[in-house]
Amino acid sequence: MNKKQPISIIIFGASGDLTQRKLIPSLFNLFRKGRMAGVFKIIGYGGTEFTDQGFRDHLLKGVRQYAGYSSKDEEWGSFKSNLFYQQGHYSNLEDFKKLVTRLGALESGPANRLYYMAIPPSVFPSIIDLLGLTGQSKEDGNWRRVIIEKPFGTDLPSAQLLNQQLHKVFTENQVYRIDHYLGKETVQNILVTRFANTIFEPLWNRNYIDHVQITVAETVGVEHRAGFYDGVGVMRDMFQNHLLQLVSLVAMEPPASLHADALRNEKVKVLSTIMPIQGKLVAANSVLAQYKGYKNEPEIKSNSTTPTFAALRLFVNNWRWQGVPFYLRSGKKLAEKQSQIIIQFKEPPLAMFPVRSTTGMTPNMLVLYLQPDEGVHLRFEAKVPDTIAETRSVDMEFHYAEAFGPTAIPEAYERLLLDALQGDASLFTRADEVETAWSLIDPVIREWEENQSPALSVYQPASWGPIEADQLVARDGRNWMHEETRKLLEK
Ligand code: BG6
Repeated sequence: MNKKQPISIIIFGASGDLTQRKLIPSLFNLFRKGRMAGVFKIIGYGGTEFTDQGFRDHLLKGVRQYAGYSSKDEEWGSFKSNLFYQQGHYSNLEDFKKLVTRLGALESGPANRLYYMAIPPSVFPSIIDLLGLTGQSKEDGNWRRVIIEKPFGTDLPSAQLLNQQLHKVFTENQVYRIDHYLGKETVQNILVTRFANTIFEPLWNRNYIDHVQITVAETVGVEHRAGFYDGVGVMRDMFQNHLLQLVSLVAMEPPASLHADALRNEKVKVLSTIMPIQGKLVAANSVLAQYKGYKNEPEIKSNSTTPTFAALRLFVNNWRWQGVPFYLRSGKKLAEKQSQIIIQFKEPPLAMFPVRSTTGMTPNMLVLYLQPDEGVHLRFEAKVPDTIAETRSVDMEFHYAEAFGPTAIPEAYERLLLDALQGDASLFTRADEVETAWSLIDPVIREWEENQSPALSVYQPASWGPIEADQLVARDGRNWMHEETRKLLEK
């Protein structure tokens, strides 16, 4: 980013939760780190009535809570003078013309503009249209970019339609589709682990890897997002985006560079080699479930069949991964908040050492802890001292907090906002990537919804999901690696 060029950041949905919790605290942190342009303006746009001062006061609460701001710090004083608010409707041409006038007055000269859609997906086509009609997408020597929040559509046709609507007004390289998982340091570290080291990549294939497990578990329920979540469910909310992004980073071929298109070409390539799960295959390769008590949550329909947990068994049909299952699971109200990727290696070909009767052979395992206690662990066998040849699994551990300090990991939005300001789209999803992901998820949801196959299971809150999820991997002679199992194995 050329810091000398003035930048305006226009946030649609500025009175909402995302702006207060994530966007402004992240922009404030970028400012504190000296990463913002010398001249910048942040203009909130929304239906709620606010004066500029009222808007600043409203945002200060978020900055206190999420950016660790204390009233002794002086930075807020200079940051807040760049914050403004413009009230308006999302489908009113006159209001958009007023926005153009306000921007002109605030910018007082040429400026680059970043538009952020922090609004429900139903509203964004009309905003895009109005941006086009009021000439706000044209790059006349200054760039115009738009960040789109998820969910990007609810199925393949709706995502295709959104892409068409977007492309009428913006070119693809002006569009930044957010998947906040890609902004997480630990997710970016997947590529570093694989491609900045030589010791893992030679083993990263079907010859040495038995299977891959990806877990994104949450302890929270639907909380205040019930109205949005019911009818959407875990597959659209977590699998179509976050989990498939994790699969693509684990399974992709090395890109020639980190340039946005080189990276995204490889991701699309690997996503399109995933064997489609459709028709009868859905029952055999997926589990869906709802936590007990979900139907009694406020704003949830009493006969809701929305799944809050799902597990999938996928195969990546290419030379590298042929026959290696990828087990994915994600759910709300589970036993622990934990996102991790486990690469389980094959067992040694010969049991030279006595095998423990309780656990059998314990294969090597590389665990990427995405959150919490971010880090990487490598499990291998070591000889128990003072025995003839007894072995035990031990862990070699890297913890971000120990290596880089307890506050080293920034909020994912900080990195993503900075990248969009700098014009680097490598951590954003491209149109064809989103559509390929939907084409994998759609047939699963269709089979669930149209044929109730498999049937919706129920699981206890604070458990690891329904028994069917355990059976899905047990049928292949494998287990999910829960923390308790892991600790047991280490004894
Ligand atoms: C969001 C989903 O994209 O990711 C939420 O809509 C979910 O339902 C959240 O809770 C999880 O994100 P994180 O960063 O807490 O793992």
